[in-house]
Amino acid sequence: MMESFITLEFKEGALHLIDQRVLPTEYTIFVCHDYREVEFAIRDMVVRGAPAIGATAAYGVLLAAMELAPTFDSDGPSAFRKNLKEACDFMDAARPTAVNLHWALNRMLSTYDHSDWKTTQEILTGLKSEADLIREEDIETNKTMSRIGNQVIPHKATILTHCNTGALATAGWGTALGVIKEAFYSGKELFVYADETRPRLQGARLTAWELTQAGIPSKLIPDSVGATLIRDGKIDLVILGGDRVAANGDVCNKIGTFMLSALCKLYGVPFYSVVPVSTIDFQLSRGDQIPIEEREASEITHPGGVQVAPDGMDVYNPAFDVTPHQHITGIITEKGIIYPPFEENIARLRPSS
Ligand code: MRU
Repeated sequence: MMESFITLEFKEGALHLIDQRVLPTEYTIFVCHDYREVEFAIRDMVVRGAPAIGATAAYGVLLAAMELAPTFDSDGPSAFRKNLKEACDFMDAARPTAVNLHWALNRMLSTYDHSDWKTTQEILTGLKSEADLIREEDIETNKTMSRIGNQVIPHKATILTHCNTGALATAGWGTALGVIKEAFYSGKELFVYADETRPRLQGARLTAWELTQAGIPSKLIPDSVGATLIRDGKIDLVILGGDRVAANGDVCNKIGTFMLSALCKLYGVPFYSVVPVSTIDFQLSRGDQIPIEEREASEITHPGGVQVAPDGMDVYNPAFDVTPHQHITGIITEKGIIYPPFEENIARLRPSS
C-alpha cells in the first residue's frame, strides 16, 4: 500500500511540497519557484524530516542551476560552478542538524563535478535526473528498512513513537513509521502511542494524520505520558527516526528522544532508531559533536500564535537531542540492523570501505 499523497514533487518547472505547517486542518501545496524559496521552505518547516529536506534541497540545486544557466554561457563554467556552490551553501545553512541536507547538496555538486556535461541543457537534464534518483532511492530505502525493521516488531506489540517519521518526513513511505506500517500491513496486531512532540507537534499534527490514514489503532499522548507507560510495562518497544548518527552510534533526533531512551534503558524496553545510511555522519566520532539547532522563542511562548508565557520571558528551545549509543538496542538501516558494538559495526557501512 502507498500513501494517497505525495510529499514532494518536481513538476512544471517548480518544486511542489505539501505544506506541513498547516496540516492536519489544511491541505495546501507550497510551490518553490527558485532555490531561495526552497531554503525558506526548509527553514520555516514547510517541509521537515531529515530525508525529506535532503530530497527537497536536491531539487533546490536544480532550481539554482536553472536560474544560473545563462551565466554558464556568458561568464563561463567556473563562474557558474562558483555561483552554484554559493546557492548550495545558502540552502545548507537553513537547518544545521540533519546531515541529509548537507549530504544531498554534496551529492548534487559532486555529480555535476564528475559529469562531462557540456551544455546548459545537459546540465539541467543531468541534475534533474540526479534529484529524481535521490527521491526515488529514498522511497526504495524506506521500503527496504521497513521490511528489515518488521523483524523486530512482535505480533500484538504496543509501540511508542516520537515526532513524525512517516511519508511526510521522507520522499515517501517513511522510516520508523514505515516499519510500523509494514508490520501492520503484514498482518500483525499493533497499537501505537504517538507522542504529540512539543513544541512543533509533529506527532499530533502529522503522525496522527498518517496513522489515521493508514488505519492503525493508536492514541495520541502528551510527551510526558511516555514515562508512566514505560514504567507500567505497557510499551513493548520504542521506535523512532534520527537526524544524524555519529560514528559511535549516538543518535541525534527530535528533542525528547533522549528522555525516552533513558526510560527504556532503566526499564529494559527495546529502543530502535530507523535511519538510512545517508543519515550516518562518518566524520563525527561522537554525538556531542553534532550541531543542535535552536529555534525561535515564539515556538514556546506563542504556540499556534497564542501567547502562553509572559512578555519578555527568556526561552531555551533546542530542536534536537542526542541519545547515547548505550541506550540503543539497534539501528535499523537499509543495509541491515546495526547492533553493538556500534562503532565497529557502523565502520563497516562507510561508503568507501
Ligand atoms: O524538526 P523536524 O520535524 O525536521 O525533526 C524531524 C525528526 O526529528 C525526525 O524524527 C527525523 O527527521 C527522522 S524521521 C525521517
